[in-house]
Amino acid sequence: MALLDRLLSVPFVDRDAWADEVLGIESPPPDVPDLPQGSVPYLPCSVEEIAAMVFEVPLRPDDDFVDLGSGLGRVAILAHLLSGARARGVEIQEHLVRSGRARCDELGLPVTFVRADAAETDLDGSVFFLYAPFNGEMLTRVLRRLEEVARRRPIVLCAVDLELPALPWLRPRETSRVALTLYDSCLPGAAHRSQ
Ligand SMILES: C[S@@+](CC[C@H](N)C(=O)[O-])C[C@H]1O[C@@H](n2cnc3c(N)ncnc32)[C@H](O)[C@@H]1O
Repeated sequence: MALLDRLLSVPFVDRDAWADEVLGIESPPPDVPDLPQGSVPYLPCSVEEIAAMVFEVPLRPDDDFVDLGSGLGRVAILAHLLSGARARGVEIQEHLVRSGRARCDELGLPVTFVRADAAETDLDGSVFFLYAPFNGEMLTRVLRRLEEVARRRPIVLCAVDLELPALPWLRPRETSRVALTLYDSCLPGAAHRSQ
């Protein structure tokens, strides 16, 4: 049975535990004590929001999906498994990056993880996921970097439990989930992503 069918056959309330078991994810290690100002500690996004994002974007095998603040790698791995998209994570905490890489090595998955501050590194991709990973000035700086990406190619931002500021280059799209908002880039002269 395909992963999606297996996921859908699991009762709603058990889906997070089921995903952790399938991916071999145990209880998360503690966060480092010196996260920079504006960084939110590790907390995994629910499988319901991840699955809704995959279908509502919709994420496709030709997408380059990036989870900004990828933690243990759950979102990037599930996004790849549910859609076939190329997927990677950007994560500031080294031990979480190592854990994500080890998991993908074990499962033989082509999902990759980069140890970086998302506000300080060059970004590229077609779909970016943000489960409330940062706030304040750090979020502003990441959005500037995402605007640079949108000048080169159309992108979709997927924000969970995070309201992005109104920006002229982002058009919000409601979804079936209260916590999930999608934002399509809409820069004049830049291409639009087909849906
Ligand atoms: C709320 S958790 C989300 C984890 C993951 N997206 C998930 O849903 O499983 C936020 C993550 O963002 C990471 N983070 C915070 N600030 C960051 C930054 N500036 N660059 C990269 N990662 C960051 C944290 O270490 C943490 O793992």
